[in-house]
Amino acid sequence: MNQAGKTVFFRKDYKAPEYSIEKIDLNFQLYDTKTKVTAISCVRRNNKENRSPLILNGENLQLISVKIDGNVLSSSEYILDNTSLTVLTPPAVFELEIVTEIYPQENKALEGLYQSGPIFCTQCEAEGFRKITYYPDRPDILAVFTTRIEADVEKCPVMLSNGNLIETGSVEEGGRHFVVWKDPFPKPCYLFALVAGRLSCVNDEFITSSGRAVDLKIYVEEKNLNKCDHAMVSLKKAMEWDEKTYGLEYDLDTYMIVAVDDFNMGAMENKGLNIFNSKYVLTSPETATDEDYIGVEGVIAHEYFHNWTGNRVTCRDWFQLSLKEGLTVFRDQNFSAEMNSPTVQRIKDVQILRNFQFREDSGPMAHPVRPETYEEINNFYTVTVYNKGAEVVRMVQTLLGREGFRKGMDLYFHRHDGQAVTCDDFIAAMADATGTDLEQFKNWYCQAGTPVLEVSSHWEADSSSFHLTVTQNCPDTPGQKGKNKKPFHIPLALGLMTENGKDLFGKNGCKTEILHLKEQKQTFTFTNIAEKPVVSFLRDFSAPVDVKTFQQDEELAFLMKYDSNLYNRWESATRLSASTILDVVRQLEKGTPIQFNELFFDGVLHSITEKIEDPALLALALELPPETALALQLDSVDPDLLFQGRTIIKRELATRFQNEFLFLYINNQEAGKYRISPEAMGRRRLKNCALSYLMSLNPPQDKFLQLCIDQFSKSANMTDTITALRLISHHPGTTRDALFTDFYRKWEHDSLVMDKWFAIQAMSSHENCLSTVKHLLSDRLFSMENPNKVRALIGAFSSGNHVQFHAINGEGYSFLADMILQLDSINPQIAARLVSPLTNWKRYEKRRQILMKKELERIAKKPGLSPDVSEIVNKSR
Ligand code: ARG
Ligand code: ZN
Repeated sequence: MNQAGKTVFFRKDYKAPEYSIEKIDLNFQLYDTKTKVTAISCVRRNNKENRSPLILNGENLQLISVKIDGNVLSSSEYILDNTSLTVLTPPAVFELEIVTEIYPQENKALEGLYQSGPIFCTQCEAEGFRKITYYPDRPDILAVFTTRIEADVEKCPVMLSNGNLIETGSVEEGGRHFVVWKDPFPKPCYLFALVAGRLSCVNDEFITSSGRAVDLKIYVEEKNLNKCDHAMVSLKKAMEWDEKTYGLEYDLDTYMIVAVDDFNMGAMENKGLNIFNSKYVLTSPETATDEDYIGVEGVIAHEYFHNWTGNRVTCRDWFQLSLKEGLTVFRDQNFSAEMNSPTVQRIKDVQILRNFQFREDSGPMAHPVRPETYEEINNFYTVTVYNKGAEVVRMVQTLLGREGFRKGMDLYFHRHDGQAVTCDDFIAAMADATGTDLEQFKNWYCQAGTPVLEVSSHWEADSSSFHLTVTQNCPDTPGQKGKNKKPFHIPLALGLMTENGKDLFGKNGCKTEILHLKEQKQTFTFTNIAEKPVVSFLRDFSAPVDVKTFQQDEELAFLMKYDSNLYNRWESATRLSASTILDVVRQLEKGTPIQFNELFFDGVLHSITEKIEDPALLALALELPPETALALQLDSVDPDLLFQGRTIIKRELATRFQNEFLFLYINNQEAGKYRISPEAMGRRRLKNCALSYLMSLNPPQDKFLQLCIDQFSKSANMTDTITALRLISHHPGTTRDALFTDFYRKWEHDSLVMDKWFAIQAMSSHENCLSTVKHLLSDRLFSMENPNKVRALIGAFSSGNHVQFHAINGEGYSFLADMILQLDSINPQIAARLVSPLTNWKRYEKRRQILMKKELERIAKKPGLSPDVSEIVNKSR
């Protein structure tokens, strides 16, 4: 327990389970107001001598009966409390029967068995199975599940669970029927799933490399049957990719995906029966943006890849979550890179890391990729565990090479198929398969914080040698002092370039060398360097570190134009734009007249006028870093000045290069049919980026406004429609209102499209934004019980509208706190996620610090606050 009286879990306390469950037969009887669950498990004590009690987890359950080997237990033979059922003296081997009643229609936390509209579905990861029946709810207990479901034929014509359908039939009780599913693969209960309802299905087939036919089924509401093509194509691509890349085949005869509208996260990899947030399944050109298409492809692949990295080999305990999540994100990133543009994908990966993970890593919730402690595990499905975890796996691949990494993966599956293992087991497989020493590398798993690198260099003409000195330091993080942290083993991908843009290395065509930084300070020497080189550092972002800028703007401008590593061209462009904006912010602070960094403008002009190789890359280079990312580079953030500074630069670019942007806009229009190829998506991105500049001019110009309105009314694809609407949202007036009304009328029947309508209004930089948001709370399409809607309106405002959320009157903060308090009683997981923008109050200037802190205190005082919100609020206060 901690001071607040909350239970705290520690990694070091892990103990192997006292009992194992070989198989479990579940019987669900679904009714309108309640569900009866009968669970019959074969239990075996692992330790012969020790006659310890059997402790089962259980929450929000109505216990009806407990039997051992057919005999009803009397109340003196077990102990029941709010979170567990303890059988005091069970035999060594026995059959345990537990009957419970649960109430899915009242379950608004969307964990366990709940209803999304009329559809019954489950979410068991991490600890939702305990809301279905009493069970040892931990991932290291693997059992074979057989599931019988019985319900009304009319209401639930479709009834699904994991594995294979082995029996169907009707029940004597009128109008009811049943199905029985059996999953032959032993699995932890967090992978259990059940779905029942009126669903329609799209069918396809995949033939595995060994020639087995797998039925592919995507279940959706009937009206959405025409929106599943892209998801199905993505699934087949993912199946093929995993065979080709890792030799991994699918293992059941059927692979099912179900889309539901109410879902806490993106999707869930339940064995053979994935359940998805419909946002990551449904697409059509008219309703989904390019970003949505890419998101669907990525999440479908992610959940599919979990079948091996997560399901066949699972986690021993929840501290090891990154074992499956970091590895699976790494796999889906590589898949998406191959399906689209590798450089664009890499930039997006890095943006997530920099804009979100670096912030988490520098704040009060910072934790290692493998946390040492938690209060509520749901709070640890984080960008650190997922995305930094993926970077750690990527570094392993960089250190071992692709072939070595593949050998490591093969050994990992060979050793651990069917087991529940740890991050150490993963690293051991990688090390053993290749004979590599990864001991020091493991610091990445146990030390939190983003290492900061400082770089200096000098070239000696006499000896033609070049010396590069790099130091690493890791800041303090909760419970870990920076000075006590051990140096990380950091792979540094380095290029040295001549002044006319040639790479100096050329071994086997490889222009990049991997340096191993292992000491706190280390000098690398290169010989035969006949001229002073330009350093292209940390190519492809070879490690999740923060490199202090060590190069002059001239060098950055040079790299932005000529670096042979395309990722680093973007990196240099971003560094230059960030420093240009922050320069202006400092000048605003001092009140001195604004002077611009001309090198940046030269660089931009050069990029716009050069021959365009990849339109998406140009767009990414032109898009200015978001305020949240820029804020990380300031010690005491004033959100108004930051917004002003960024706006000044954006307008200056728009003013100077108006003609160029107009040219880009016109020249990247769609010629011919709408397509979702990387090339077509890149063009749309570039065109819309140009329009965004033109729309930022002050005073606004009628001709560009008209361009934007025309795009809105003529476009047949959601990317262009929504961009136009977003750009207009910053310009209040009757035109804007008319377009929003128009859009509402056209799309009110489509919940996912309406999420965009809410989000755009919540992200308007206009100062009446908050009052609009408050007003929208009572729109008939808004619901506090639907996580997508909460994210679209409240989430978009508080994490996507930096300047308005941080308004100096503090109303943004108190609004968010009100919403968190309200949501805490409905859906604690979603409430806890919303706290995040308040947790980093220390980064802001004094007045805001006080206002933000006050709201955290107010939330903390709520009687009966959920463990989810309580953990985050208390750690940030
Ligand atoms: N394993 C799922 C995925 O990443 C996420 C489940 C998250 N669940 C939760 N309660 N936090 O694919
Ligand atoms: Zn996952």
